[in-house]
Amino acid sequence: MTHPTLLLLSGSLRKGSYNRMLLAQAAEAFGPANVIEGDLDLPLYNGDLEEAEGVPEKVKTLAAQIKDADAVVVGSPEYNKGITGVLKNGLDWISRLPGWPLKDKPTVVVSASAGRTGGETAQFMTLSCLTQHQARLIPGTAVLIAGAMNAFDDDGRLKDETSQKLLTERMEGLRAELG
Ligand SMILES: Cc1cc2nc3c(=O)[nH]c(=O)nc-3n(C[C@H](O)[C@H](O)[C@H](O)COP(=O)(O)O)c2cc1C
Repeated sequence: MTHPTLLLLSGSLRKGSYNRMLLAQAAEAFGPANVIEGDLDLPLYNGDLEEAEGVPEKVKTLAAQIKDADAVVVGSPEYNKGITGVLKNGLDWISRLPGWPLKDKPTVVVSASAGRTGGETAQFMTLSCLTQHQARLIPGTAVLIAGAMNAFDDDGRLKDETSQKLLTERMEGLRAELG
């Protein structure tokens, strides 16, 4: 039996990122899958670079991974009450290729942030950007992990059962979309 391909996109590049931890938990809750993490460590979008050298290979790889995925989960941290530059830059780059790779792609956004709102503003902005990409945003209660530095145990697992249950529900909802 072939498993669906689940693509994870983290708006934080750091190794110890809480959003990457949350994405790992999301992937586990999604169930058996071919899990891939897209690389958003891309050059800053610059129209001159694009004109001189074309779209970077890393961006083409990312777009192909998104296109081939059955479902996408985005981890959207919050920087200064907004979407991170890393995530926005990645979304801007992939929009420069024909075909809108996220179009109709079943997608869920989750967030972990240090503040009390768990990155709600950034998640809202991310959902808005993904609407422009015509992603198929699967509705559900927002997964917002507040006080992220205290929310995970040493193994990177969510400590709070309610949050884990909600994440599981959202991932079940995403999987159900695959038919
Ligand atoms: C430039 C910058 C801006 C930040 N702004 C916010 C913010 O607006 N709201 C918030 O809850 N946390 C904010 N934080 C703290 C992040 O939530 C925290 O660094 C978190 O760990 C980032 O996600 P990550 O662990 O996946 O890297 C900010 C952090 C940085 C570096």
